[in-house]
Amino acid sequence: MAVEVGLERLEEARATMLELFPEGFEEVDRPEGVELAAYTDAGGEERLWHFFGGARSDDVKVGWEDRWRTFHKPVRVGALWIGPPWETPPVGPLAVVVDPGRAFGTGSHPTTQLCLQFLQGLERGSFLDVGCGSGVLSIAAALLGFAPVLGVDTEAPSIEATRENARANGVELEARLVTADDALPPAATAVANISLASVEGLPARLDVARLVTSGYLESEQPRLPGFEHVERRTLGGWGSDLYRRAPG
Ligand SMILES: C[S@@+](CC[C@H](N)C(=O)[O-])C[C@H]1O[C@@H](n2cnc3c(N)ncnc32)[C@H](O)[C@@H]1O
Repeated sequence: MAVEVGLERLEEARATMLELFPEGFEEVDRPEGVELAAYTDAGGEERLWHFFGGARSDDVKVGWEDRWRTFHKPVRVGALWIGPPWETPPVGPLAVVVDPGRAFGTGSHPTTQLCLQFLQGLERGSFLDVGCGSGVLSIAAALLGFAPVLGVDTEAPSIEATRENARANGVELEARLVTADDALPPAATAVANISLASVEGLPARLDVARLVTSGYLESEQPRLPGFEHVERRTLGGWGSDLYRRAPG
């Protein structure tokens, strides 16, 4: 399903889409605005109509499950190249090859890119990826020298995709299915590219020295008791933040 919105409604529409489809959606520039597309079932279609009642919407043809492949293009983020298995990585950058399957995380979403930017500047050590999706951030972390690496997610297809992509990239990491309330294993650095509400639930579940967060709009910023804000970066209307554990 896709809705087309004018630029004046874009920020509000993005926030709604993020709430409706936290697993991800796409943005495509159109002559009179932006198309926001989510690959979803009848339930998702109903939610979309509820929120965007007056907006134009189109059924995505049979095969939507694989249509994301059209949008899966390689990206460069600092020392990293992230791309699909059917593209040849260039010589030089560290290559992260991802086939997300039904999970989120081609590497091209601004929130993923912002997390990848932050990771490259952080001290290496143990690493926790909360909401690993395709495993793109876990695999990048392992290639950058973080160890041990653990990816957790609330969705079984994400765990499968992370394990398969780790194998394909020849990196060692663990992927574990969790609930949204489980206490999480301690780590020196954690990254969480999940919704704002889920990020704000992390302090109660997390024992880390550094935390990179994203998954929310540029206009939003998580409140994280027990953490100090260090740095903010933005890209394409999305926000990402680096925090460190407050002393004491
Ligand atoms: C936006 S995707 C991020 C995927 C990948 N890490 C990236 O940066 O491209 C968010 C992922 O987090 C998972 N997720 C959402 N809320 C979560 C929570 N509270 N705990 C663990 N995983 C969660 C979703 O199932 C989804 O796979």
